[in-house]
Amino acid sequence: MSERLEDIAEAMVKNGQGLLAADESTGTIKKRFDSIGVDNVEENRRDYREMLFRSREAMDNYVSGVILFEETLHQKAADGTPLVDLIRDADAVPGIKVDKGAQPMPGHAGETVTEGLDGLRDRLKGYYDAGARFAKWRAVVSIDETLPTWGAIRANAHALARYAALCQEAGIVPIVEPEVQMDGNPGDHSIERCHQVTAEVLKAVFGELHEQDVKLEGIVLKPNMVVPGSKCAVQPGSEEVAHHTLSVLRRHVPSAVPGIAFLSGGLSDSDATAHLAAMNLQKDLPWKLTYSYGRALQAAALKAWGGKSENVAAAQAAFTHRAKMNSLAAQGRYQPDLEAAA
Ligand code: 13P
Repeated sequence: MSERLEDIAEAMVKNGQGLLAADESTGTIKKRFDSIGVDNVEENRRDYREMLFRSREAMDNYVSGVILFEETLHQKAADGTPLVDLIRDADAVPGIKVDKGAQPMPGHAGETVTEGLDGLRDRLKGYYDAGARFAKWRAVVSIDETLPTWGAIRANAHALARYAALCQEAGIVPIVEPEVQMDGNPGDHSIERCHQVTAEVLKAVFGELHEQDVKLEGIVLKPNMVVPGSKCAVQPGSEEVAHHTLSVLRRHVPSAVPGIAFLSGGLSDSDATAHLAAMNLQKDLPWKLTYSYGRALQAAALKAWGGKSENVAAAQAAFTHRAKMNSLAAQGRYQPDLEAAA
């Protein structure tokens, strides 16, 4: 495979394929495993992820790359095959989460700044040697009627740009993820408020990327969709989410960016797919629009698996189904009745 940043980025968003976010930290995967009563030990984490990466139909056809947590990047399957090789064999790109998490920001109650820049240049060399060709850094921007502050937007945008520049120096495509908090957002703010905040955040992020000389052809943007808080009395349909999200992206994301891969942020499986499908009904978009989903690709498979080896085939079928639905959505060919047909 080509080692040019722009070719790797293109491969990550190639037609009808998207990214599997399997980079849950040890703490986050514990929450997922708790929900199915499985112990959070290394062997179970390995078995679960091996099950996903050995889903041939999904990996060959619908998954262009996989975001890994550091442990998985170095882990071997039960038969000794490196998990990274399972991903490469499916012609998918291995990637690595490199941030050290969103930490409380001093003097900014309710806001966070993502850490992990110190020593990143050296860590990236190790990740490259282990096979990673893209990376992920997630900035989380709080949202309500008064937040975010400009200080938090600026600090997170600056860190994202410095991370992105270090990645490109190391031959690694940065996924630039400025999430205006979707995940577990209990707020009652409107979709218009999310529209306004997402616009401010993207404006700051692309300003900082420019100042740090990040080559836009060699990144993938991973934004939130524009949605209201989960307690907002008015919850929009997919068409409205698509309308708001696309209008913000068109104004703030240069066409040099090859692709935009959304996070699912706690949306239901069907909403994550339907929203993406509604956006891809638009033709003439300047970038590819696809998925970089964690929960919306894995939730059904996790439940079907339940930690039991006899359930592997059923779990792989559940994963393959969700991956296929999202692949159709990325091509604007998804219809909700395909869910029932399965
Ligand atoms: P979700 O799709 O579950 O939000 O996870 C994607 C991700 O990698 C967030 O950083």
